[in-house]
Amino acid sequence: MRTIMLMNSKGGCGKTTLATNIAAWFADEGNKVLLADFDPQGSALDWLAARQDYTGIPDIVGINAVKEEVHPAKGTEYLIMDVPSGIHGKEINTVLRQVQTLIIPVMPSPIDIRACSRFIQELLVTRQVSRHRTRIAVVANRVRENTIIYQQLEKFLNSLNIPFLTSLRESQNYIRSAEQGLGIFEMAPSSVYRDLVQWDPILEWLGSKSSLPEVPKKQTAKKS
Ligand SMILES: Nc1ncnc2c1ncn2[C@@H]1O[C@H](COP(=O)(O)OP(=O)(O)OP(=O)(O)O)[C@@H](O)[C@H]1O
Ligand SMILES: [Mg+2]
Repeated sequence: MRTIMLMNSKGGCGKTTLATNIAAWFADEGNKVLLADFDPQGSALDWLAARQDYTGIPDIVGINAVKEEVHPAKGTEYLIMDVPSGIHGKEINTVLRQVQTLIIPVMPSPIDIRACSRFIQELLVTRQVSRHRTRIAVVANRVRENTIIYQQLEKFLNSLNIPFLTSLRESQNYIRSAEQGLGIFEMAPSSVYRDLVQWDPILEWLGSKSSLPEVPKKQTAKKS
């Protein structure tokens, strides 16, 4: 089973937006998807509840991971985890166990950039990340190009020694997607085509080996 988590110590940066859209993408591809909401706010589960109003779109199973332990049903192919903000220190390593891939959304704001910088320093020293058991990448979110703050964010994300996948623009499509329980992949292509293009690098990375844990090299016995 593929495990993907959205996390950032900073609130409001797009964790739920990315988690729900990634869940929708893999469900649309015909996979059995479990969306685990670790946030007491329950926004990912609200999105799933809104999704029930539609017929003809793939089912996604939801779990309130605040109340229940996550035991994916047999045959689950993707577990997408939406984690609340405010996680720090040792707690990060605990949360990351069993997580193959972590995506960190970051918004263009001085406070978010500073908070993200500290969060990534914390991540890099965890056993999970330093031993490449969890692969991490960043995504700029709610971007308005041609602004100075976006240029600063881009410079910061490019300076990190981890993949900077893409920039997602500020768009009402994400607000509608949250409200309607749909992924942007499930909305009218004529209104979301600009967003879909920006998602390509995320989907490509998730489909590549570089988003999966490094397989430990086998120890070769030395000749005496
Ligand atoms: N690219 C975007 N364009 C426009 N609105 C966006 C975008 N990404 C997220 N939003 C909106 O910003 C708000 C915060 O996003 P979201 O809930 O995904 O963040 P979060 O990191 O999960 O927040 P929290 O820390 O509160 O859980 C939501 O109303 C969401 O619809
Ligand atoms: Mg959230």
